[in-house]
Amino acid sequence: MSIKIISIGSYVAGKVLDNHMLSEMVDTNNQWIVERTGIETRYIAEDITTEELAYNSCKNALDKIDIDINEVGLLISSTISNDTVVPSSSFTISGKLGIESAVCFDLNAACSGFVYSLAVAKSFMESTNIKYAILVGAERLSKYVDWKDRSTCILFGDGAGCTILENTCYEKNLNKRDNKVNEEDNISDKKLALELIDSVLGGKYDQNRYLTISSKLSPKDSDSFIRMNGRQIYKFATEIGVKVIEELLLKNNIDKKDVCLIIPHQSNQRIIETLAIKSKIEIEKWFVNLEKYGNTSSASVPIALDEALGKFDFQSNKGKYIIILAFGGGLSYGASLLKI
Ligand code: ACO
Repeated sequence: MSIKIISIGSYVAGKVLDNHMLSEMVDTNNQWIVERTGIETRYIAEDITTEELAYNSCKNALDKIDIDINEVGLLISSTISNDTVVPSSSFTISGKLGIESAVCFDLNAACSGFVYSLAVAKSFMESTNIKYAILVGAERLSKYVDWKDRSTCILFGDGAGCTILENTCYEKNLNKRDNKVNEEDNISDKKLALELIDSVLGGKYDQNRYLTISSKLSPKDSDSFIRMNGRQIYKFATEIGVKVIEELLLKNNIDKKDVCLIIPHQSNQRIIETLAIKSKIEIEKWFVNLEKYGNTSSASVPIALDEALGKFDFQSNKGKYIIILAFGGGLSYGASLLKI
């Protein structure tokens, strides 16, 4: 049984807000933001809903492959900025994509949402007979940003990313005894086929309230804004990130030298540099695009994966591994292992 990522897409839209524009809104400056975070610009989707961002990233991924949309049996939308409670954004996205019937739900694990959904989808697909799953991470965090709080408003951006998974052992007709599954036949027409080997997930309750958005759907009062203790989140991310990578490699008996690419949650350049040093995995292997998008929470990993693989040398890295790493509110964390 193997689950493969067969397509990736992403989508950002709206106003590009750069550090100079922010310095006219709050007491900050380009140099401080770049030195402390690495972020230069972020997209603010003023007139676009989270579901529209999500839909467009799914379309982008679907346009790269040729599949029957009605063979999609699972759609997980990982988000903390959904437009409605019921129906959940996953149902709205599936409707827009023209899916007649699928298991749909939203998953809230903050910035780790996408990694959580990879693990959930793999285990669900392995225990049911589903051919394709769509996983989308989409956020319009700008609606929760306090534009008067310089310690947070510089960090976040809006966007969406999507991956499509295929179960290569899907059986078209379960009742037909001689229906032998040929994995190669199932994936032969796909350009991308990254095997999702394993994930390690975890979380511990944020009892000190280091990162909160208290009032989920009514951004009216100050309780609804993102509130964060940056120093503590920094500490959490740099400690847990190393642990989870080590656990994933140990569990799967993989040597660090066989990891050719790491896609970390795009929160802060300094966090990523610290993780590279502490984990002893060369900084050149860590993909970074946060300078353009800021922290897009659960969208950051699939957007980064889409961009990183766009210019990736698959041929010379055949048989090697990619690690996806995320950490965030909850406090949640997780990492996934992909084989090229
Ligand atoms: N511009 C100028 N000065 C600022 C700004 C700003 N935008 N924000 C804070 N400052 C000031 C502070 O007021 C403080 O001034 P003081 O010394 O006079 O009191 C000084 O800069 C230092 O502030 P710190 O908060 O200690 O700065 P730090 O070096 O910790 O950087 C930051 C802050 C960038 C938020 C950092 O803590 C960080 O990146 N933390 C990780 C948080 C993160 O990435 N969160 C994303 C969401 S959660 C997730 O995805 C994991």
